Amino acid sequence: MSFSVVVLAAGKGTRMKSALPKVLHKVGGVPMVQRIINTVETMQASAVHLVYGHGGDLLKQQIHGNNLNWCLQAEQLGTGHAVQQAADAITDNEDVLILVGDAPLIRQQTLERLVAVKQQCDLALLTVKLDDPTGMGRIIRGDDNNITAIVEHKDATDAQRKINEINTGMMMMNGADLKHWLKSLSNDNAQGEYYLTDVIAMAASQGKTIQAAHPDEVVETEGVNNRIHLAKLERALQRWQADELMTGGATLADPARIDVRGNVTTGNDVFIDINCVFEGKVTLGNNVHIGPNCVLKDCHIADNTTIEAQTLIDDAQVGEACTIGPFARLRPGSVMHKKAKVGNFVEMKKSTLGEGAKANHLTYLGDADIGPNANIGAGTITCNYDGVNKSKTVIGENAFIGSNSALVAPVEIGKDATVGAGSVVTNKVENGALAIGRAKQRNISNWQRPQKKS
Ligand code: UD1
Ligand code: CA
Repeated sequence: MSFSVVVLAAGKGTRMKSALPKVLHKVGGVPMVQRIINTVETMQASAVHLVYGHGGDLLKQQIHGNNLNWCLQAEQLGTGHAVQQAADAITDNEDVLILVGDAPLIRQQTLERLVAVKQQCDLALLTVKLDDPTGMGRIIRGDDNNITAIVEHKDATDAQRKINEINTGMMMMNGADLKHWLKSLSNDNAQGEYYLTDVIAMAASQGKTIQAAHPDEVVETEGVNNRIHLAKLERALQRWQADELMTGGATLADPARIDVRGNVTTGNDVFIDINCVFEGKVTLGNNVHIGPNCVLKDCHIADNTTIEAQTLIDDAQVGEACTIGPFARLRPGSVMHKKAKVGNFVEMKKSTLGEGAKANHLTYLGDADIGPNANIGAGTITCNYDGVNKSKTVIGENAFIGSNSALVAPVEIGKDATVGAGSVVTNKVENGALAIGRAKQRNISNWQRPQKKS
């Protein structure tokens, strides 16, 4: 059966002490509310009604989804009032899944469990038991253990406050039922708010069946009210992601010291040392070895490649059995073919290193196309920028560029050509030729060194 989703995200999040609306704060590199939208999209919801209040422009810039319906709640008069803002868009004969925008770790499998429970009753609630339920809405059950109401902490009696089963804020019911009950909400309570939770007692008094579902882990339902909560959820997510990588065939030197802010897929026998950060979409082949303190973003690293410590890779394609780093930087558009090598303090940008080509030390390769087995000496610079335009350097197969050369683009170095160390090359070098572009050495015999003045 199809269902729609309402995500409550209008709260200001005062305790975040931030100019950013709370739900735009990121967990695992993704805004909290985007995470929830992504999760429900994999479940094929017919529509997602996003109730927002603060920072609408920013939200609309940053949050995306299919079938996303923006519902403004101009004044935050409570969770029931928030759902009312979506009421016009809710279809009668569809079920509605209500979620909270600041509980980003809710898993699809848990929501599917809630959906399954709803199929067997009239109203399904996601509840958990907490050691300290202070502040939460309590689940009230009758003598027969049936759920009869939710009472907010501030409205609860001392006896009710001892109940440790709480409302996570996530629930599911029929659209017509929901709209009918929303009309009867009042704000006659301790907080003067229209509580969504009041619909539970209405449902019970009409003889509706109410059942609870539970998540695998409590943390899935935890909301963020301040940056301490945010950090806690970030660690929980990172641990899940670390577990996934290990399950997928990667050894992590320390699962507590890896940060994945995107999607990483791993081959078998990958090793990832401590303090590596992964962003965007990263794919790692078999036997990839990554040293400590590397940052990999939007890249593919093929089998048997080694990335040494302190290497940064952004938007690059790395072939099989390459070695990179330590202290290397591959910027967007970098391509390394099989067995190519990039060593310490080498920067590549929009450049290709052919199979077996090497740039082992202290080099800048920008807008350069380097043929197979070429050797780029230490300190080589492709001078690709004249202050206005970028130009290309082409280096042929098996060329040898001596140390400390400046290749002033546009320029072409032929196949098997050699450039003498310290050359400034401005003209094309033919295949197999030697280019030397440097001041000729002269020696002065019996040189009298300067003497210290008395
Ligand atoms: C709510 C529940 C409580 C539950 C708790 C779980 C009600 C009345 N209470 O309490 O039973 O234990 O969540 O965290 O529902 N929101 C709006 N507009 C509003 C008010 C809230 O969009 O006018 C959104 C918030 O942005 C947030 C969610 O609704 O995402 C929950 O609001 P919050 O103020 O955190 O509710 P609690 O008082 O914690
Ligand atoms: Ca809350």
